[in-house]
Amino acid sequence: MTNPTTTLGNGAAAEAGDVPANAMADGVETSATPRHHLLDLDDLSSAEITELLDSAEGMLEITGRDVRKTPALRGKTIITMFFENSTRTRVSFEQAGKIMGADVINVTASASSVSKGESLLNTVKTLQAMQIDALVVRHPHSGAPYFISNHTDAAVVNAGDGTHAHPTQSLLDLFTVRNHVGDMSGKKIAIVGDVLYSRVARSNIIAFQKMGAEVTVSCPNTLIPDEWQLGSTLGDETGFGGLRLANNVDEAVDSADVVMALRIQQERQDAGHLPSLREYSDRWGINSARMALANDDALLMHPGPMNEGVEIASDVAHGAQSVVEEQVRNGVAVRMAVLYALCAPGKSTRIANSDSNAGDEA
Ligand code: CP
Repeated sequence: MTNPTTTLGNGAAAEAGDVPANAMADGVETSATPRHHLLDLDDLSSAEITELLDSAEGMLEITGRDVRKTPALRGKTIITMFFENSTRTRVSFEQAGKIMGADVINVTASASSVSKGESLLNTVKTLQAMQIDALVVRHPHSGAPYFISNHTDAAVVNAGDGTHAHPTQSLLDLFTVRNHVGDMSGKKIAIVGDVLYSRVARSNIIAFQKMGAEVTVSCPNTLIPDEWQLGSTLGDETGFGGLRLANNVDEAVDSADVVMALRIQQERQDAGHLPSLREYSDRWGINSARMALANDDALLMHPGPMNEGVEIASDVAHGAQSVVEEQVRNGVAVRMAVLYALCAPGKSTRIANSDSNAGDEA
């Protein structure tokens, strides 16, 4: 699912205030068309991803200051529109916008006119009429941010759509890993959990592979696409060429540089995708014994929210190898970099979005 007009801009930075130079670098000429939205990572090059991560380094410096303020996005209006619950993503986008001086307005479906039956299209048109600059959207339907991007001049950021993508989560995960290991080429990433339904899994497989890492997944047979076989390596025709499907979790985490546990949606158990949660924990849960199979300095990650005692044991979730809180902290810097790239003066292209391949069914 790509959108050729979906882009992240490299235009000239202007009036950026005291944003560090590396946060506002114009970067390399990586895309034929300036980017206006961030809907997925699948059409971003590794150079574009690197540029965003470099920008986030400068943003991280700002978040560590006593006075965390820069006027980089002063006068801009950012709407966060969440049709699903969120703690990390919504708050960090709000914080990111406010640190850069933007006005940030939060809209939740339950407190908006959506609850009175207003359509997504009319909601977007209503917000568009208020001259907004960016719309950060989380929606239970895959493709909804693409639909929205076709009906607004604002920059659209996908904050998680259905089972499809969670691009800023992946960017913050890459940023966290890069800060520990540097070049990710050849690093072994083990992702354990719900590969079939997890937007984080899909985005992270794509993201880490783009950066040259070797990704292995482990999950129950019921939580991978039907045509995938445990014990195999996927071919390029799948779009995930080189992805290894481990026979079991011990095989996946063996010698890993990064172990990432995914949240298991408890409703999967009711749908017959899982044995009991206890059995899931025994067979796929990340615990100290499994972390001992990974490299000594392996990082333990989880996108959150965590089900401690199910997909991750409490002692390792809060142990020395865990970077879970660092992921959350880095999320603010990464989202600052994304908002800056899309909304800073001279960066927003306000192009017409006429040729998205997403349907209007959302
Ligand atoms: N990782 C993540 O998306 O968390 P939230 O649902 O709390 O935003």
